[in-house]
Parts: sequence; structure tokens; C-alpha cells
Amino acid sequence: MRQATAAAIELKSGPEIEAIRRAGKAVSCVLAKVAAAVRPGVKTSELETVARDQSKSHGVKPAFLGYRGYPAALCVSVNAEVVHGIPSALRALAEGDIVSLDYGCVLEGFYADAAVTLGVGRIAAQAQKLLDVTRVSLERAIAAMRTDARLGDVSSAVQDYVEEQGFSIVLDFSGHGIGRALHEAPSVPNYGTAGTGTRLSPGLVLALEPMVSAGTGRTEVLADGWTAVTRDGSLAAHFEHTVALTESGPDILTEGHG
Ligand code: MF3
Ligand code: CO
Repeated sequence: MRQATAAAIELKSGPEIEAIRRAGKAVSCVLAKVAAAVRPGVKTSELETVARDQSKSHGVKPAFLGYRGYPAALCVSVNAEVVHGIPSALRALAEGDIVSLDYGCVLEGFYADAAVTLGVGRIAAQAQKLLDVTRVSLERAIAAMRTDARLGDVSSAVQDYVEEQGFSIVLDFSGHGIGRALHEAPSVPNYGTAGTGTRLSPGLVLALEPMVSAGTGRTEVLADGWTAVTRDGSLAAHFEHTVALTESGPDILTEGHG
């Protein structure tokens, strides 16, 4: 998401977290099916079709379709596209591309949201490193989600690791609280200072979503009003999970397909 959210943070009960987990399991299943359809030559609109069909099979409503006018169920962002790429019949994936797949759904009134970036066929070593670093930065963020830690601990876990690995944080987009709405408080930037910000407590549910670039990380939005691309044309990657903080630590809710 782009906007910071100032509203109060709504902590979730155990049953609410289980409802988000049911939505999250569907997200995981849909994304796995879309990922399995990624290959050189596939049109990004065909991936959208898979996402819509799978949403139906799982009995969930796509969260992004119609959100602020977004025209699809899936975001498909290729190479220098960071997020919010709109599926198109004119866009076919090619060997060596990297492609970010972002999908969310709503089930029984609760939202879940996740994203993954994949290589199409064989990809360059530097592209693979970008994917690995972005995925690990999400793992670092999840591990930092502990009772009595601060939001800045989560943000700085991403930033410190990504910069140490020689890549840049995309500053223009952030993670977010999630639950009865797709975007809730708090906003979770992928940069910040450890030991600062809101204290974390059990019941907090966050969509953590590091976006990382091999260049400067500065972005602009294309004329379609959605697709965010790196200004310098460098590759970008995006991984996202919906994660609950429970009494026993962080719990990933967008897992468990198959
Ligand atoms: N994961 C993204 C986000 O949280 C996807 C939103 S796409 C939109 O912002 F269409 F819903 F905006
Ligand atoms: Co999100």
C-alpha cells in the first residue's frame, strides 16, 4: 500500500486469527497454482485467469479486484515493475524475466494478502540474488515480530539486511495491518530505526511486504495509474506474508497449500 494509516491498531482474537488463516490458506493455494503456470511465453492475463478460477474453487472473493478501481484479482509485476502490474493479454513472460505475483482474498469477512517473486526459466545470478535477499528480508521481518519488540525493529530488520547485501529498499510502499480490511493500521515501512515505534503485542496481524531493488529503489507510476516501476529501470522483487503475533511468537497465516 502507499498511504500511511493513522487509525488505532485493532488486535485480533484467537478465532479472528483462525478466520484470517482460512483466508490465508486460500491465498497460499491460489498463489501456488498461479506460480505453477509461470513459464516462458505465458501471457500475464492467463495468470489472472488462473487466479480468478482458483478464487472460485476455494470459495473466496479476490481482494484487489475493484479495490480503488484496480481492474484485476492479481498483480503481476515483471522485471523493473515493482508492484501493482496489471495482467495483460499483450504481455508474455520471457525466459530470464523475474515476475512478482501478489494476491489477496476475503473469506468470512477477513482478508489475507501474500506475494512471491519467481524467475521465469533460467535467470541471471544477480537476479537470483535479488530474489534470495528479498525472501530472506521477509524472514528477518517475521522473526523480529515478537511481543514487546517495536515496529521499528521489524522495519529495520528488513532495511539492515537488504542494505548489507548491497540492494535498496523501495521507500514508496509499505506493509500494513490486515484483518476486516485489506489495509489497516499500522503502516509497516521497510526501513526504520530499531527500538522505536509502536510496541508489538499478541493479536497484532501484519502483512509484511519488503520490496527491494537492485538500483536506487526510487519508483514512479506508469500512465495506467497503477504499475509502479523503478525509475532507473533496475530489477525489483517483492515477497509478502500475512503474519499474526501470538503468545508463542510470529505465526505465518498465508501458508499451507496442498
Ligand atoms: N499487496 C498489495 C498491497 O497491500 C496489493 C494491493 S493491490 C490493490 O497494497 F489493487 F489492491 F491495490
Ligand atoms: Co499487502
